[in-house]
Amino acid sequence: MIDTLTRIKEGAEQNINRAEDFETLNEVRVKILGRKGEITQVLRGLKDLDPSQKVEVGRLANEVKDGLEKLIEAKTQQLKARQLEMALHSERLDITLPGRPVQAGAQHPISRVADQIKAIFTGMGFTVAEGPEVELDYYNFEALNVPRDHPARDMQDTFYITEDMLLRTHTSPVQVRTMEKMAPQLPVKIIVPGRVYRKDDDATHSPMFHQIEGLLIDERITFANLKAMLMLFAQQIFDAGVKVRYRPSFFPFTEPSAEMDISCVNCGGQGCRVCKQTGWLEILGAGMVHPRVLEYGGYDPEKHTGFAFGMGIERIAMLKYQINDMRLLFDNDKRFLQQF
Ligand code: PHE
Repeated sequence: MIDTLTRIKEGAEQNINRAEDFETLNEVRVKILGRKGEITQVLRGLKDLDPSQKVEVGRLANEVKDGLEKLIEAKTQQLKARQLEMALHSERLDITLPGRPVQAGAQHPISRVADQIKAIFTGMGFTVAEGPEVELDYYNFEALNVPRDHPARDMQDTFYITEDMLLRTHTSPVQVRTMEKMAPQLPVKIIVPGRVYRKDDDATHSPMFHQIEGLLIDERITFANLKAMLMLFAQQIFDAGVKVRYRPSFFPFTEPSAEMDISCVNCGGQGCRVCKQTGWLEILGAGMVHPRVLEYGGYDPEKHTGFAFGMGIERIAMLKYQINDMRLLFDNDKRFLQQF
């Protein structure tokens, strides 16, 4: 028995020392100390021994058992330390590596121009108002003096959702929405930035684009006020030397209506490809708020007058930054966007 124990001890010590990983070590442990392990067998066999031998063999068996347990524990610690060492080694930080550059974002040209336009008009006392992009036919057309079946509806190819609901084709519906909320307070002095939708798509038209609307209602507002404010606006958004002209136009919700051109930002008015040799660029529609629109909004056209204007933000951005295809603004191409 004592020989057996010595053999077990020696064999086990060798195996433990040789174990290179946790799995092998565990196999050794099970083989010796497990439920059917070699030492366990010896301890179980004690009951068949003489009482005189029992004590001695029992003590020795327990000694061997304790010794091997300690050895296994020590080996486990050693393997753990080695594992940690290896992990640290393979994940070593090389502080001499060049850093990964942080890709800084930039403001999108549309947001940038929108912010500039807002800043100019808030500087003149306008406040920013907003309205829904899914709009009622009533606000988008009816309350703007465009009845059902009126040919003026053909000016804007519309995405209808139901018969009475659509994606707004312009920011003008926010005119009557705001008037309804404010009447009879004066002045109504708002600008309205936002997305609008029309069913066309080419180098200068996108089915979704952005507009900024302006509306000023008060007593004794005239076309002269409109011209003065839009002149200031043009000088600030383009440059102080820019010239402005108005051409008669038609919008059902303004009377009279006009379109405002600026002298070509590319050639200064000489005539070039950008202005199609005319020297002028159309940038917005405007006019005096139609009496019917004032009525729809809850104001009295006998006492109150106002002007309104609307412009496309993409168009201004394209002119300011010499972008020749509107689709570039929506392609999300980093190479394009990084230029701003
Ligand atoms: N809503 C018009 C358009 O989208 C622009 C406009 C606004 C014209 C306000 C006159 C007054 O074409």
